[in-house]
Amino acid sequence: MESILDIKNVSKIYKSGNHSLTVLNDINFSISKGETVAITGPSGSGKTTLLGLCAGLDRASSGSVVLSGVALDSLSEDERAAVRNQYVGFIFQNFQLLPTLTALENVMVPLELRGEKNSKAFALDLLAKVGLADRADHYPVQLSGGEQQRVSLARAFSNKPALLFADEPTGNLDAETSEKIIKLLFDLNKDAGTTLVIVTHDLDLAARTNRIIKIKGGQIIANETPQHA
Ligand SMILES: Nc1ncnc2c1ncn2[C@@H]1O[C@H](COP(=O)(O)OP(=O)(O)OP(=O)(O)O)[C@@H](O)[C@H]1O
Ligand SMILES: [Mg+2]
Repeated sequence: MESILDIKNVSKIYKSGNHSLTVLNDINFSISKGETVAITGPSGSGKTTLLGLCAGLDRASSGSVVLSGVALDSLSEDERAAVRNQYVGFIFQNFQLLPTLTALENVMVPLELRGEKNSKAFALDLLAKVGLADRADHYPVQLSGGEQQRVSLARAFSNKPALLFADEPTGNLDAETSEKIIKLLFDLNKDAGTTLVIVTHDLDLAARTNRIIKIKGGQIIANETPQHA
């Protein structure tokens, strides 16, 4: 299988004063096009940090990240942003919606960046898919946590990414909404061939993916295919 993400000997060390904190220590894995992968592990184990490095939001301290054939390590900030816009959707653990834009406008941002013609109609359709058609004109502060999470999902879907990273996408949702969102994610994988990388504490969700990567203390402790029932 053709790989879409190659992580080799990646470490991340945060330095402050004389102290240094190794958050990721020599991580190695590859993800094939069209795969669905769950990343699990305790709080503070480095999952969000790892996702940020994989998506080119942040730089590794050492090692290499190759996304869709592009080595991210040698790129400038702007070049990485361009690669992200072309290939990557990202659902943040803390949503990261732009506070001065409405739900609709937030979803439209990646579309406008790409110069899509029908960005408004397309964004409205995406909001309807996540059950927020009637909230298009609301600002993030006027939305609940779960609603903001769903706007963030719609925004991540909007540039039809080859690779979608989701950091605990169902962390703030009730069981029913959560199931809807999971279905949207897997439908995107099935229909558009989108590769999914999902950080989750939800073992049922993890069990539905092709592969589970477990991390603990900044290291991979397992990388395995779940036993499907
Ligand atoms: N900018 C930073 N500077 C210093 N330390 C950081 C920074 N960002 C993260 N860390 C530390 O790195 C470790 C891993 O954080 P990370 O957010 O990746 O964990 P996580 O596995 O996503 O946890 P959670 O399940 O709680 O979201 C934590 O100990 C955190 O305090
Ligand atoms: Mg996290």
